[in-house]
Amino acid sequence: MITVALAKGRLAEQTIEALERCGIDCSVLSEKTRKLVLDEPSGRLRFILVKPTDVPVYIENGVADIGVCGSDTLLEEDRRLYELLDLGFGKCKLCIAGYAGFRPAGGGILRVATKYVNITKKYYHDLGENVQIIKLNGSVELGPVMGLSDVILDIVESGSTLRENGLTVLAEICPVSARLVANKVSLKTKAQEIKPLVEAIKRVL
Ligand code: PRP
Repeated sequence: MITVALAKGRLAEQTIEALERCGIDCSVLSEKTRKLVLDEPSGRLRFILVKPTDVPVYIENGVADIGVCGSDTLLEEDRRLYELLDLGFGKCKLCIAGYAGFRPAGGGILRVATKYVNITKKYYHDLGENVQIIKLNGSVELGPVMGLSDVILDIVESGSTLRENGLTVLAEICPVSARLVANKVSLKTKAQEIKPLVEAIKRVL
């Protein structure tokens, strides 16, 4: 049996669609239930439903063999995982955003609100800029709007959250998409089960 860590939230629907296109029966995933461990009827796959940022944790520790999460999460978490496929959905961009034309006042330290503390550190370190990072867990756009921060580092998909809060992209950092990742040991010990699944997913992308 292969254990698959699935990110709840924005990637869930497209992940399930891709699995179903490979002939995997995902009906247990559309049941109205609070269960977090769900077995595919054939008994070949077990799904665990986890927070997107926890997908790499379950896989690195070998609790899940494979999983799907965004490349933003992989970049932030920097775990020892094997990246098998770019799934091509869940596309968005990591950006710096704030009020149009914003420039930090001379001498002041830029305050950056974000869920991505490690990416933010690296981004500004590479620019040689000293910044104050303010960790938030959601609704990051409130940072500049309420004066908690000068800018944010966050994902932008449609851009509507920025627009509706009067903010704009100030710099694009990198594109983001969903990735199929695997535990390195599982890839060896369960190669006979994982490889055909990866090939089947490749065919339907
Ligand atoms: C994400 C992200 C932005 C928004 C971007 O938040 O943090 O707030 O989506 O999407 P858009 O460009 O299509 O508007 P999410 O919806 O995951 O919720 P959160 O604020 O609770 O993290």
